[in-house]
Amino acid sequence: MNIKSAEFLISNSTYKKCPEPTKPEFAFIGRSNVGKSSLINMLVNKKGMAKTSSSPGKTQLINHFEINSSWWLVDLPGYGYAKTSQKNRKQWGKMITSYITQRENLMLLFVLIDSRISPQKIDLEFISFLGENGIPFQIVFTKTDKQGPKVTEAKAEDFNKALSETWDELPKMHLTSSIHSKGREDILDEIEHIIPLFEPIINKKNNQINPI
Ligand code: GTP
Ligand code: MG
Repeated sequence: MNIKSAEFLISNSTYKKCPEPTKPEFAFIGRSNVGKSSLINMLVNKKGMAKTSSSPGKTQLINHFEINSSWWLVDLPGYGYAKTSQKNRKQWGKMITSYITQRENLMLLFVLIDSRISPQKIDLEFISFLGENGIPFQIVFTKTDKQGPKVTEAKAEDFNKALSETWDELPKMHLTSSIHSKGREDILDEIEHIIPLFEPIINKKNNQINPI
């Protein structure tokens, strides 16, 4: 897909205040510091559009970006950020889970996993939560530039094995590096194929009011 325009739209602390769900959207989630904001910037080829930081906990709100004037990318706060108060953590958890389960135009969630580490309980639990709620998702392994391809493959395989314990069918996986733009075409192709499946919510509402 050709990215012609990418602009910051709005930040919100709750899904209720997010823009009317008139366009398809794709969101990025994962542990704090896993590389969500960097990946979004890499996909749209615009450094600094989504704010990144070397210290975790940078993204604290639901951030919408409008792409090609026709669809939205959403940068979410990370889960599992240890260095914040329990109250904050609870609040973020609520913000994220209500966004994921309630947002009507969310077409697909990309779950980011650090390609360098062994399967983490918090990621596996989060993915189980997605399964229980029927949320469509794909896995994105990040920071593959930090190690050789063999190590990345072995880590991805470990993750697959951990998922296989609870899932019959594995989700799609992408190997990425925000530094080398690795995985960019893969993810954009995925989005391009899914966009046409979006049915504007407004039409649905109209149909309900005025059945033909
Ligand atoms: P929060 O908003 O705090 O949840 O973090 P985030 O998931 O948005 O991570 P962010 O994109 O801010 O990146 C965190 C750190 O990882 C930054 O220092 C990035 O430069 C670095 N980083 C992200 N992606 C990559 C990558 O593909 N390769 C390398 N080498 N570093 C990366
Ligand atoms: Mg971020």
